[in-house]
Amino acid sequence: MIISAPTDYREAARRRLPPFLFHYIDGGANAEHTLRCNVDDLAGIALRQRVLRNVADLSLETELFGTPLAMPVVLAPVGLTGMYARRGEVQAARAAAAARVPFTLSTVSVCAIQEVQAASSAPIWFQLYVLKDRGFMRDALERAQAAGVTTLVFTVDMPVPGSRYRDAHSGMSGPNAAFRRMVQAATHPRWAWDVGLRGRPHDLGNISAYRGKPTALEDYIGWLGANFDPSIAWRDLEWIRDVWKGAIVIKGILDPEDARDAVRFGADGIVVSNHGGRQLDGVSSTARALPRIADAVAGELKLLADSGVRSGLDVVRMLALGADAVMLGRAFIYALAADGEAGVANLLRLVAAEMRVAMTLTGVRSVAEIDRTALAGGC
Ligand code: FNR
Ligand code: LAC
Repeated sequence: MIISAPTDYREAARRRLPPFLFHYIDGGANAEHTLRCNVDDLAGIALRQRVLRNVADLSLETELFGTPLAMPVVLAPVGLTGMYARRGEVQAARAAAAARVPFTLSTVSVCAIQEVQAASSAPIWFQLYVLKDRGFMRDALERAQAAGVTTLVFTVDMPVPGSRYRDAHSGMSGPNAAFRRMVQAATHPRWAWDVGLRGRPHDLGNISAYRGKPTALEDYIGWLGANFDPSIAWRDLEWIRDVWKGAIVIKGILDPEDARDAVRFGADGIVVSNHGGRQLDGVSSTARALPRIADAVAGELKLLADSGVRSGLDVVRMLALGADAVMLGRAFIYALAADGEAGVANLLRLVAAEMRVAMTLTGVRSVAEIDRTALAGGC
């Protein structure tokens, strides 16, 4: 298959992966309305075309939490990444380090923190979920710190998993799931050989490291539901701020009042996110939510955004709406599933190239110059 646009990787991933994995990545909550709005609202953001402004020496460079980055892009935490490519977290982290952008390791990754950090030439970011077992959370923070992780991404929009109906249809969960997954693996031999066999062990590496025994993936969705904690409130998090020495980014903010609370909490950054439309269907797209949040907290912390970003042009749109940097979720996961580390490396090159064209044609030379003045009324 010919890959020329960042969006080409979705189809390549669909061909490679057993359907239960493709639909777990691709799907969202309920009727998937917010999932579609994330993409469509962002695509509808029009930019001003500016000409003859001498933008020859253009730079994508930026900085987050004291670290220089090649561009304002971060790889988002994505659970089970090691099921989409062989030791997938390691491959993605390597591609990110080579491109000088951060990789964020999910709590529910296949590879544990140590394995990924040891393989990466740059510090990775670590994402923590609120689990009922606070002992696990403390242990994970200590392991992350000991491994040299600098930035903690604390995800707060998953006190329960959303209603993901595709998963039951695809065999990710639901009746006879294990049998259906086996049949799908058998009919996707490239994946079965490369990831299914050679990518073992398949378990939740961080959880297993804490428990001292493997955590089976048979009922992953059930595991999420049983272990995530809906009782959490801001004051329960204060111990994390005291324990964690590096930067703290709160991920999953969609409301200006919650953004103000994050400032009060002392967060160094927030990610404006609806979890890629995977949690509450019917909430705003991030393209709509971001400007009001930027009005509420800009300048008080770093503003990251995700959900619906599929291209370098989308990154520029998010920056114009008020973000300082953008997280890529499905966009890089499709590339990883299609072509491993080389796929992520190429995706990041394509994103950078698109950003350069968009910045040239909107007449800006630096990331800092991209703001609301780049927005046009409509297209
Ligand atoms: C996610 N996301 C996520 N977020 C998080 O904090 N921890 C996690 O373990 C996961 N797991 C996960 C799995 C899969 C398959 C997807 C697609 C997403 C959410 C992710 O970090 C990000 O917020 C969204 O992917 C952004 O939306 P787009 O860009 O994928 O539309
Ligand atoms: C998901 C979780 C793991 O979105 O964040 O599936």
